[in-house]
Amino acid sequence: MKKVITYGTFDLFHQGHYNILKRARALGDYLIVGVTSESYDIERGKLNVRDSLLKRIENVRRTGFADEIIIEEYQGQKLSDIIKYNIDILVLGSDWRGKFDYLKSYCEVVYLERTKNISSTKLRGEGATYNVGVVTDDTWDNGVVWETKYVSGVHVESVFSEDEEAARIFCKKYELDSYGTDFDEFLDRVDIVYIKTPLKTRAGYIEKALKLGKYVISDSPMTLSPNKVRELFELAKAQHVVLVEKINLVYLRAFNQLVWMTHSNLVGNVVCVKCSICQEHFEGGKSFNETVVYPLCAIIKILGKDYLEVNTNAVKDDDGHFIYDMITLKYPKAIATIEISSSVEVEDEFVVIGSNGRITIPNDWWNTGYFEAKVDDTQFLKRFSFNFEGNGFRYLLQELMIMISDKRTECTRLFTEESQALVDILRIIDQRG
Ligand code: CTP
Repeated sequence: MKKVITYGTFDLFHQGHYNILKRARALGDYLIVGVTSESYDIERGKLNVRDSLLKRIENVRRTGFADEIIIEEYQGQKLSDIIKYNIDILVLGSDWRGKFDYLKSYCEVVYLERTKNISSTKLRGEGATYNVGVVTDDTWDNGVVWETKYVSGVHVESVFSEDEEAARIFCKKYELDSYGTDFDEFLDRVDIVYIKTPLKTRAGYIEKALKLGKYVISDSPMTLSPNKVRELFELAKAQHVVLVEKINLVYLRAFNQLVWMTHSNLVGNVVCVKCSICQEHFEGGKSFNETVVYPLCAIIKILGKDYLEVNTNAVKDDDGHFIYDMITLKYPKAIATIEISSSVEVEDEFVVIGSNGRITIPNDWWNTGYFEAKVDDTQFLKRFSFNFEGNGFRYLLQELMIMISDKRTECTRLFTEESQALVDILRIIDQRG
């Protein structure tokens, strides 16, 4: 018996899918179809899938061509399946030509011509497209333009800068459609605005964009004024649009899983959260406020926003330049510390200490796909790993698109009240530092 296997997402099932399954089945006597799982698609950065796994499986089943349907869950599974199911032929569409030739020593690899003029991407593209505009004062995009390409329904259209030269270079460098120095004209062209200018100008741009009913993503912090933050969120709500802070950490699966597991008492009651971060290691070097936002956000996600006290102990050099700080936040039954440095080396690390164990994210924890847990009643270290692609921005954008389509004005990854608490604490640190 000749066994054939083929794989796909099979989202919004179409004629191209039908044709390849039919032709794959005709190549042998038994066809196995691997349908990608939701988590595998997310992991490999395919964020635009519309149909659930069950629906995609059902659509493949209904063709009648599949003798067996399996789920493709991880990179490298194809080889394991070929051996496990004793496969004779692996079939792929011509868009994959050459990419799986390394499997030729295990079975025959056949690339079949794709059906012309149809794809899931094309079918998904029939929905509305939201134009994104970037507000900047330099020519660096934080990887945002590239990340946007992985989210369906969005397109980076335009860039605004008060510095015309910066806008022109940015536009050319990232192949955008337009650039400008007139903010109102720029807002006319876009639906979503990403604001990445220095802190002092952010709130002004956010306010103008919200007043014109634009969705706004802003670098964090948006401002150091707690009142202003409240005002901006109220304005967004009144305008029925969303205002989100660009803190990629809260959109990463590993961090979210860590938060959920902590809240589910994995390590018992949390007594301490310790974060260390070196400004120079963070996103190529950021200001104090932009760096300290990450540990603060992580602490708030784990211990909540109802802290009792904040203390800061900044060390400065003879010229008054910041070198090192150990910030402590006291909670009713726990304590959090942030060790942050500019020029001196600190070891980047994130640790949650509980009454029954500890969780650690080593190294650049703000950009993590990994954490480990040591629970007292087992002697083993448990490792949790969640691959993600890119710098995390695509997951934020994807969440924003879901909020837009669900007509939600509140971001559930970082609640308005959490953003407000964050600025309250920043303000205290800023005043005392
Ligand atoms: N396929 C095909 N002809 C098409 C579209 C897809 O032969 N017009 C094949 C693919 O080459 C693949 C299988 O169908 O072997 C499953 O493809 P999948 O990636 O799920 O479908 P696409 O429509 O290509 O999806 P997307 O646009 O999201 O990449």
